[in-house]
Amino acid sequence: MSFTAKVVTAPKQRSHCLVVAVYEGGKLSPSAQAIEEAGGQLGALCKREGFKGKAGQTLLLLSPTGISAERLLVIGMGKAPVSANDYRKAVDKGLLALKNTACKDLCLCLGEVSVKDRDAQWQARQVAELLGAQQYRFTRFKSSSPDDNFAPSKIVFGCQETSQVNLAKAGLETGAAVAKGVALARELGDLPGNVCTPTYLANEAKQLARGQTKLSVKVLEEKQMKELGMGSLLSVSAGSEEPAKLIVMTYQGGAKSAAPVALVGKGITFDTGGISLKPGQGMDEMKYDMCGAASVLGTMKTLIELQAKINVVAIVAAAENMPDGRATKPGDIVTSMSGQTIEILNTDAEGRLVLCDALTYSARFKPKAVVDVATLTGACVIALGSHATGLYSNEDSLAEALLNAGEEANDRAWRMPLWDEYQKQLDSNFADIANIGGREAGSVTAACFLSRFVKKTPWAHLDVAGTAWRSGANKGATGRPVSLLVQYLLNQR
Ligand code: BES
Ligand code: MN
Ligand code: ZN
Repeated sequence: MSFTAKVVTAPKQRSHCLVVAVYEGGKLSPSAQAIEEAGGQLGALCKREGFKGKAGQTLLLLSPTGISAERLLVIGMGKAPVSANDYRKAVDKGLLALKNTACKDLCLCLGEVSVKDRDAQWQARQVAELLGAQQYRFTRFKSSSPDDNFAPSKIVFGCQETSQVNLAKAGLETGAAVAKGVALARELGDLPGNVCTPTYLANEAKQLARGQTKLSVKVLEEKQMKELGMGSLLSVSAGSEEPAKLIVMTYQGGAKSAAPVALVGKGITFDTGGISLKPGQGMDEMKYDMCGAASVLGTMKTLIELQAKINVVAIVAAAENMPDGRATKPGDIVTSMSGQTIEILNTDAEGRLVLCDALTYSARFKPKAVVDVATLTGACVIALGSHATGLYSNEDSLAEALLNAGEEANDRAWRMPLWDEYQKQLDSNFADIANIGGREAGSVTAACFLSRFVKKTPWAHLDVAGTAWRSGANKGATGRPVSLLVQYLLNQR
């Protein structure tokens, strides 16, 4: 797909489909107005079809008079000034309306729409991201391909003024790169546990680095992890035939001397619960328990696409959680790489067990900030549902930066407390710390557990159990929080 931005004169623009905006109440955008004047039918057609310009409303016209494009898609923007949400909704529904067309090249006259607190760069980025999201299909195990034929190859973002062109181009570039990262994260999430194993994730990371000068990948095997004292991580893979992997990706796009941001991903490629076996219903969804890792890999993919000038270290703790004769049992005590001993009261609270050793390991890169991403707790889904990612942090400015990035990227997080009062729920009679904190505040106590393994470094934890995938009829990975992470990292420059 090629993306470009330029100033366009709507009626004269040749394309398979021209997209113009109309506001709620029927007010035409400048391009829609120009088309009305050239063809003299747009206003009347909108009226006849009951098109009122509500956000997300669409009207597709074939071979309209007075314009050079083959089709005209009118999209409702809602009330002016347009909110960021309405704009996204309008673009998303607009693209959806083209699903059964054969349009190959598109021109969207959207630079002229002014969106509250946003600029042409953001507006163009949304187009590329939303289009990318709609093009995603998980077809690897389908014998026949889906029959919708909308597969555009050329996208023009129409600007109103030349001052918008470079901004829009940058937005399209970022959006297309984010879309690729999101697609990778979704693909890895959607892959079944028998294919997407820890070894598969490690190979995927190596694949990403192939031919890249800024990215290098190292994979630690169980033997090396044992030497490092990662008794907690290894207690999770103990019951599995699949060896655990610690995947370390170093992206060096900035100055050698600049401290990196470390990203740490939970990569449980299947979570049966282990000896604390989960109930059978819906257990298939635990193939998504590596979505934190997938988002970290997806983010690296985007950074490569953009050749971003920053330093990032990504660490993926990959393991499979299975019951077995050698599996860890409730009551077992293990020693983590940090030296702290852990009483494993529930083998289903395994995410924190792999993450704690990965967090300890991350310290060797002297990161300026560490952000871990994990489908960590069902409790977080109960607390926040599927709209917001749970955010925990030991540092207000880092929390703020992540919240803002989520807002900007439409991939929102919500801050949760990490107060000392919760810490005592993790007291153990037999070891330094227990791996569960009881029924109350399950998402908070999981974060508290992780906090014990970071010292002075600014650290944040993103619990994406509710946001990284959808259940139900539209079951599938969402690619969240790639967009948030990329935004946060790009804001670092
Ligand atoms: N992977 C799950 C968390 C999860 C559950 C994510 C449901 C999405 C939907 C995690 O490993 C887990 O099992 N957590 C337990 C912790 C409990 C044993 C303290 C949970 O949330 O029930
Ligand atoms: Mn679990
Ligand atoms: Zn899990």
